[in-house]
Amino acid sequence: MHVQESTVQPHINKQLLPPGSMGLPLLGESLELFFDKDFIEKRRTKYGSIFKTHILGHPTVCMVGPEAVRFVLSSHMDHFAWGSGWPASFEKILGHSLIFQDGEEHRRNRQLLMPAFQSKALAGYFDTMQATVSKYLAMWEQQRELTWYTAFKQATFDIGSQILLGANPGEEVAYLSHLSEVMTQGMYAPPWGKHLPTPFGRAIKARRKILAHVRKVVQKRQQQPTNDALSMLIGAKDEEGNSLTFEELTTQALLLLFASHETMTAMLTCACRELTLHPDVLQRARDEQLRLAAQGPITFEQLKAMPYLDQIMREVERLRAPGIGGFRGVVKPFEFNGYTVPAGWRVLYSTYGTHRTESVYPDPERFDPDRFSPERAEHKQQAFSLVGFGGGPRICMGFGFAQMEMKLLLAHLLRSYQWDLLPHQNLDVVLFPALKPKDGLKVYFRRWYPERKHDQALAETTPAADALPTTEHAQVQRCPYSGAVIS
Ligand code: HEM
Repeated sequence: MHVQESTVQPHINKQLLPPGSMGLPLLGESLELFFDKDFIEKRRTKYGSIFKTHILGHPTVCMVGPEAVRFVLSSHMDHFAWGSGWPASFEKILGHSLIFQDGEEHRRNRQLLMPAFQSKALAGYFDTMQATVSKYLAMWEQQRELTWYTAFKQATFDIGSQILLGANPGEEVAYLSHLSEVMTQGMYAPPWGKHLPTPFGRAIKARRKILAHVRKVVQKRQQQPTNDALSMLIGAKDEEGNSLTFEELTTQALLLLFASHETMTAMLTCACRELTLHPDVLQRARDEQLRLAAQGPITFEQLKAMPYLDQIMREVERLRAPGIGGFRGVVKPFEFNGYTVPAGWRVLYSTYGTHRTESVYPDPERFDPDRFSPERAEHKQQAFSLVGFGGGPRICMGFGFAQMEMKLLLAHLLRSYQWDLLPHQNLDVVLFPALKPKDGLKVYFRRWYPERKHDQALAETTPAADALPTTEHAQVQRCPYSGAVIS
């Protein structure tokens, strides 16, 4: 009996779909995926590293764990297409840009976009980033009460639109930020009413307005290049000496802005959440910054020499990756772990689940930046176990840009500022509509003076209750965590 089974098994398995449930008619398991944090873990425990489901109107297989992710992102990537992995509304709003392209078209365009993300180009963006970060720090200091998610969203959009779309700070950035918000809302709406005031129709209109802006800037940069990303893209040439066309340039620039700003907002907010909840980590991160501050102000070079901050960022990437994973269309049938998946299905590789693989990351829900210390380097045990920025030939193109901007912001915060949680907020991290602490992380923000005692600094930077105007006096509250006055 046993011999018989092993001889027929390979034949049977070739026809076998992975186990799993297709959920409700039409809806499938879409709601569970977005609202149940344990969606992947529950099914992985039951079925293993590949299982079938039905998500966003498509039969889909989820693949989870470093081996499965390597299969999708690297060793068998020719079985998968990016273009057919996204909901239709995304391409209609974002245009036929890099993330919807495959094969030769993708290879050529990635090569043309690449110079805008190499070290030399990044060094050229440093001053704009630094000036904008300083502007926001001063503003936040005045403001005193912040919701980190909203604050980082504004700051990252401001930086991104200046560097990637050539916007002027101030009114122009505010105008584009509003349009971008409308555009993003439309992406998750049904693709109905292109010419009507539906969310989708409004998004299409906003896209046209942003493109009109980018076209004007491209024309200016063609006459007079600067050191922003648009100028880099205009100057880029492929092997045959061809450049991106005018239309390609504007479409790709729009994608870059979209790809950059929600992801960084999520990661920065989560980084601040974890630093707040882990004072020992915060202290070590501050110590590192203070040692570096003794050598001078933050420079492009100095950002590369912050090993403990790098460990923190990796742990935030692992535990709080902004994307739950990546969708692909299956263009050639494939076999994995003895199961067969036909062409026409979709695949979702799970970042969320892979980052919680216990054999790689023991006690995976624990925030522990030392996992990434040189001694432990848990992610090095198995390739594709840390994929918050994707992996393989299509790894995130903006990795260096994102690291530079996030580290710059955090390094300033660690050197010179303090933030305390405001009461009455929910700190649980939700995945939908964006990954963030539920209420966005509300804090009381102020300057921090490392060389003075905490209490002294507090007394100097926050108004004493009796110094407040009498009308406010009655309403004075103190932050339960720090004792700071909250007006
Ligand atoms: C915290 C910040 C960021 C995170 C977590 C992130 C994450 C990712 C991930 C996971 C992918 C691969 C998706 C997949 O495999 O399905 C990706 C691709 C990409 N990212 Fe990022 N990203 C970030 C910032 C940026 C920035 C700042 C830019 C550009 C300014 C950018 C541009 C891109 C582009 C163009 C691709 C597509 C690459 C290709 O198809 O060849 N990203 N990103």
